[in-house]
Amino acid sequence: MAKFSLIAAALAATNGIGKGNDLPWRLPNEMRYFQRVTTWMGRRTGSAYPSTPANTGSKEEEAQAGPPNVLIMGRKTWDSMPDGFRPLKNRINVVLTSNSALIPDIESKSTVESPTLAFTTLTDALTHIATLPHTSIFIIGGAQLYASCITDPRCAHVLLTRVTPPLDHAQIDCDVFFPPLPKDFVRARDEELAAVVGPAWPAGVQQEKGFEYEFTMWTRGDCGLDEA
Ligand SMILES: NC(=O)c1ccc[n+]([C@@H]2O[C@H](COP(=O)([O-])OP(=O)(O)OC[C@H]3O[C@@H](n4cnc5c(N)ncnc54)[C@H](OP(=O)(O)O)[C@@H]3O)[C@@H](O)[C@H]2O)c1
Repeated sequence: MAKFSLIAAALAATNGIGKGNDLPWRLPNEMRYFQRVTTWMGRRTGSAYPSTPANTGSKEEEAQAGPPNVLIMGRKTWDSMPDGFRPLKNRINVVLTSNSALIPDIESKSTVESPTLAFTTLTDALTHIATLPHTSIFIIGGAQLYASCITDPRCAHVLLTRVTPPLDHAQIDCDVFFPPLPKDFVRARDEELAAVVGPAWPAGVQQEKGFEYEFTMWTRGDCGLDEA
């Protein structure tokens, strides 16, 4: 059974993840974690954060790494990305939509380094992905897709950035939310997160633009790290 990881950044207080089909904040270093983890997790020694500095993204490094990772997203998350930012580079982009008429337009964005595919069901997507050389599979949102995948037995890890806005910041209103973590999920220890994303991962509370955030991982008893 192919396992996948969910990756999201959500407000610690409310689980808010988006507003008006956009992200509620711009935190470049947090985005860099997303980019690094989803591009490199499992593909090279030391995963996304090796202990020796990685020359992240070079052509040589890409050529020596394992097969690319896969990102599965809902159609609204795909739509929320400006053309210049999609498909997400050096990863296989997979978009889910119930409207098969949208598939040719989505797939027209495909490039050699960032193949882009669309399916009308998660099962069809995972069946096709199983035929492609790939390493890790990520569910990257949005709220609708997270909600349907978090209870799926194939969900091995939840990589969740817990975001706290500055104290003097106006309340951040969101219209979409990360689902509550099922009760059988427990927070992984720092060493367990290191085993998944690499030893030099940015541990502890991070500060950026007055925001504070922390990278966390949650796992379920029957979805061991070794099987991911
Ligand atoms: N903070 C974060 O980490 C993060 C990450 C990602 C996204 N976001 C935010 O989340 C928001 C978007 O989330 P959302 O819940 O509105 O939309 P979404 O989950 O991105 O997309 C929902 C759409 O995806 C398609 N879909 C979902 N599940 C499907 C399935 N099982 N089979 C077939 N199609 C499926 C449907 O498309 P059709 O309508 O075409 O049928 C559905 O309307 C935005 O604000 C975005 O910025 C935040």
